[in-house]
Amino acid sequence: MAKIGSSDLDVSRLCLGGNVFGWTADERTSFAVLDAFVVAGGNFIDTADSYMWRAPGNSGGESETIIGRWMASRGNRDSVVIATKVGSWPQRPGLSRANIVAAAEDSLRRLQTDRIDLYFSHTDDAGTAQEETAAAFDELVRAGKVRTIGASNFTPERLRSALEISAREGLASYVALQPHYNLLERDFESAFAPLLESQGLACLPYFGLAKGFLTGKYRPDTEVDSARAEGAMAYMDDRGLRVLAALDEIAAAREVPVAAVALAWLADQPTVAAPIASARTPEQLTDLLPVLDLTLTKTELAKLTKASA
Ligand SMILES: NC(=O)c1ccc[n+]([C@@H]2O[C@H](COP(=O)([O-])OP(=O)(O)OC[C@H]3O[C@@H](n4cnc5c(N)ncnc54)[C@H](OP(=O)(O)O)[C@@H]3O)[C@@H](O)[C@H]2O)c1
Repeated sequence: MAKIGSSDLDVSRLCLGGNVFGWTADERTSFAVLDAFVVAGGNFIDTADSYMWRAPGNSGGESETIIGRWMASRGNRDSVVIATKVGSWPQRPGLSRANIVAAAEDSLRRLQTDRIDLYFSHTDDAGTAQEETAAAFDELVRAGKVRTIGASNFTPERLRSALEISAREGLASYVALQPHYNLLERDFESAFAPLLESQGLACLPYFGLAKGFLTGKYRPDTEVDSARAEGAMAYMDDRGLRVLAALDEIAAAREVPVAAVALAWLADQPTVAAPIASARTPEQLTDLLPVLDLTLTKTELAKLTKASA
């Protein structure tokens, strides 16, 4: 288990990505994935009000609704840590006070809960003063509707100024950043890691499996039937193949799936509290679960870092 930054949230070494629920996983399968995750010791689930409004037949809110129904039917709200987000759903865009307050009420209703454990700005909003956003989140924290807050898809400069404003005004402050970060996307390391380290923020990387590429199911001359195939195939180049070869070698030696090795590398990087990755079925989840207690050796970590350079 790991603490998220300066908060008292104690989370598993894997955060279960929720964008599949109501998209590539129907409600019954979503429940099965969620059940298997908590049975294995996972407690941390990431969603957003917007998931997955882009999917055919959806309008948004589907993922939160499924997670809410699951928690209600299992009676386990107090034993899971729920992260959700505001700001990127066309129906509730931006980080104005009015939008944040209304979106939080909607998320609480869909999640069938009285508080959000970790509430993210899903994306920056240059059209709203950061003072207004900070005051709105602080209001929700004081009301007990939100426990802690985080930022996603900010530039380092805007994250820094948001942190400065919260500190100066004595308002609730971001405790975590959710950036795009994995073995094949490493800009985070130079752009953000020093800032997070100096400010005591936790990193919760999204696309932990590079849209499925780091599970090892994408290989040259193979065709994968997946809603994510196009995005994942973008990594099929010399570097991607080098990373897969290093993952294959370590996975074989440790007798664990490739996906778990990729997530263990991420979990061991400075400032990372828990990588976020999703699974569409309980069988897929089985391949990710070893990360909950898989620690790579220094040599294994270095081999992967070098392969992905
Ligand atoms: N803050 C943000 O802006 C942001 C953006 C994106 C995502 N996120 C969060 O991060 C989470 C993770 O991102 P993601 O789910 O899009 O991508 P990901 O974790 O990089 O990839 C997960 C996908 O890989 C495939 N997969 C997983 N395990 C597998 C296995 N054992 N065998 C074969 N395929 C497997 C599945 O897709 P298929 O079976 O469909 O191929 C699964 O949905 C999201 O759920 C969301 O919570 C946040």
